[in-house]
Amino acid sequence: MENAIVMSGIRPTGFLHLGNYFGAVKNYVKMQDEFTCYFMVADLHSLTTHPDTKELKNHVTRVLAEYIACGLDPDKAALYCQSHIRETAELYLYLNMLAYKGELEKTATFKEKVRQQPDNANAGLLTYPVLQAADIIIHRATLVPVGKDQEQHLEMARNFANRFNHRYGDVFPEPKAFNYGEQLIKVPSLDGTGKMSKSENQNATIYLADEDELIRKKVMKAKTDAGPTEPNSPKPDYIENIFLLMKLVSAEEVTAKFESDYNNCTIRYGDMKKQLAEDMVKFIAPIREKAEAIRNNHTLLREVMEKGAAKAGKSAVATMEIVRQAIGLKYY
Ligand code: TRP
Repeated sequence: MENAIVMSGIRPTGFLHLGNYFGAVKNYVKMQDEFTCYFMVADLHSLTTHPDTKELKNHVTRVLAEYIACGLDPDKAALYCQSHIRETAELYLYLNMLAYKGELEKTATFKEKVRQQPDNANAGLLTYPVLQAADIIIHRATLVPVGKDQEQHLEMARNFANRFNHRYGDVFPEPKAFNYGEQLIKVPSLDGTGKMSKSENQNATIYLADEDELIRKKVMKAKTDAGPTEPNSPKPDYIENIFLLMKLVSAEEVTAKFESDYNNCTIRYGDMKKQLAEDMVKFIAPIREKAEAIRNNHTLLREVMEKGAAKAGKSAVATMEIVRQAIGLKYY
């Protein structure tokens, strides 16, 4: 683990939310002090769904600003845009020769996207996991902090890396999904169904950009009921979710108090949600304000992007020298 190389990224397809924070960014912040880290904004991947590219700059700078507001430090980690590392596209091309139609068509995220956008089942979407593998192994990274939904992509990245090694010689170590011992965190949405999401059920998702009043409104609308009638009853899902969210942002004593109120049937959900809303506001507001300031600081953003691209570029160029040599694409 010592001296391990870390790589991860988030697609700039919407606003970052609590799920992104607790599932990914919080780990990034911790890892930047322990490892050599490459964290990027996956702008190329976002093109697979044909977004309006006039919005791209906005989305990319938002994610970058939110990364920094959450505590990522451009002097510790390389913070960069995927499209600034052109070598990734070259590695993607080589890896495409080692990726098979059958396995790509079987990928869960591909099947899901084809269901959502049947008229746009393009080759970029099909080879999405190949580009992701290129992002990771171009830095010869081994640790990839991601949420549970990315496990299949990581398995594919390992397969592509191993196939390359078998065919052309040992170049890439095996990348693995990483988290800090705890179970992979799933941040539930406020309506009791599924998890928080960048684009779906926005009223049940808390975004890092939400204003105080909006946070209060969303939390107060979370589904509850009349409360338990028997001591120590099991919690319905939607109540369990409120406790889960409280554990993430409230003090331990606070959650413990509501746990015991629940267990002896004296819990008042109105009070609990008010408390949760205030703790949520206290948690989000400083991140939101910092991100806003950074988003308006174009000089800073440009410096961060340039610094990140220089660091990531250096690592990518070095790997690609080895890759071309290994494949036999060196004629003099
Ligand atoms: N597919 C990832 C997601 O949807 C984003 C991503 C692109 C990524 N390239 C990556 C994550 C490399 C980790 C490593 O969240």
